[in-house]
Amino acid sequence: MRAVELFCGAGGMSLGLRRAGFELVQAYDAWDRAVDVYRANLGPHAREADLKDIFSIGPELARLAPDLICGGPPCQDFSAAGRREERENAALTRAFAMLVAVARPRWFVMENVTRALNSDAWREARAMLVRAGYGLTECKLDASLYGVAQRRRRLIVIGRLGEADGFLQSAIRNAASETAMTVRDLFGDRSPEAIYVHPRMPGKKGLWSADEPAPTMRSSSRRPIPADYEPHPDDAPLLEKGAFFTRPLHGGRGVRVLDEPAPAIVRTSRERPRASYMTEPHPNDPVHPADAAVLTQAQVSRIQGFPPGWDWSPGRTKRDIDQLIANAVPPPLAEAIGRVILAREAGETIPALEGRFGQWLRRRGLSPQSVRNAKTRVNRARRLLAGRTFADPAMEIAALERVGEFLSLPVKTQSDLRSALRLYREWLEEKAERSARNAPKTAPEPIGETGMSAAAA
Ligand SMILES: C[S@@+](CC[C@H](N)C(=O)[O-])C[C@H]1O[C@@H](n2cnc3c(N)ncnc32)[C@H](O)[C@@H]1O
Repeated sequence: MRAVELFCGAGGMSLGLRRAGFELVQAYDAWDRAVDVYRANLGPHAREADLKDIFSIGPELARLAPDLICGGPPCQDFSAAGRREERENAALTRAFAMLVAVARPRWFVMENVTRALNSDAWREARAMLVRAGYGLTECKLDASLYGVAQRRRRLIVIGRLGEADGFLQSAIRNAASETAMTVRDLFGDRSPEAIYVHPRMPGKKGLWSADEPAPTMRSSSRRPIPADYEPHPDDAPLLEKGAFFTRPLHGGRGVRVLDEPAPAIVRTSRERPRASYMTEPHPNDPVHPADAAVLTQAQVSRIQGFPPGWDWSPGRTKRDIDQLIANAVPPPLAEAIGRVILAREAGETIPALEGRFGQWLRRRGLSPQSVRNAKTRVNRARRLLAGRTFADPAMEIAALERVGEFLSLPVKTQSDLRSALRLYREWLEEKAERSARNAPKTAPEPIGETGMSAAAA
């Protein structure tokens, strides 16, 4: 699939999507240093552009006709910053939605801070995208469950033309690991040659070169330290101390041990502890900040998920490079999302059935066997639809009627599959009405907290 990135920064999201298998055909950012770093590492397809200029970028995107548009419009300070900044950020989030609506790629991915969910800017952008025909999967993801040694919670919105909302929720949830990736996972047992990951399925590849992306880490993964493993000399002080300091943002803890993820990387993450912090450290710090390592820029870059050889030099100043790193979508997170999208595009996954469908059917008097049959039939119909869900139920049945394999089934089976899809749709609509009645009037809720809590949809 061909992808374009808006607000590309140094290219974290593009790198992840490329590793997943996307071809990045164009990228835009207004900041020359971001574009320079991007070009140095990912190729000449990035250029400087002010994306508020919808009238010149819109037609260009339409000509490029990408399959996917992605981007993280800047809105880090939506609620915290002054009104002027809020207006500018709001304009850029709207610009993202307008450009997607003009180019109408089959898919889009938007990344943002979780606070954006309750902003007027996202509410307006969201309405535009829905009017343009996109079904949405909105989730708050923790990057540490997607191969990043960092607890970074972000809003990820994935849209696909014509889908029902929530269409990718279960697939995104399934891509999460059971345990968070820690800083030791990243620096401790990394072999220069290869890391061993226990294959989840018999016959699947188990040995991964350090130069290629590792599969999603799961609790079943094993990473024994190879006999010839030696840490990179730059990482030795960090590994010896076993703890590191990151400048806390809102009076939080400054020191962490290697066996936990780092906190979300920000521009000031690798600053030394201030004198005031040294004299009065956080009560929960596992060791005194004087005994904790201060991260290097190279380590912060790797914690953000960039590979060791990433060339930051076109970012020129240390401060700008810190900013570029902090702005990025961690590449492993983008890669995980990209893989989920490609798998669905190829019809390899189908959305999981909502948990209480069975209970709802039972309340309608269906026997346990009939409930099982109904579930099996919905899944079968969805497989025939290559994992597609449709905003419009009539479209769903119409699409099924066009599938050759469906048409070759006995008439009775066809009818059973249609009925099962209709029943499931009825249940979804009833459920949606119920949650609309109970929802607070002010802000749209995310469909689920994927990978964050058991309360997922
Ligand atoms: C959050 S960062 C995106 C990081 C990127 N997704 C990555 O993974 O590296 C937002 C980017 O938007 C860019 N930006 C801000 N205003 C812009 C504008 N008017 N037009 C284009 N880009 C803009 C900033 O320079 C910044 O690089």
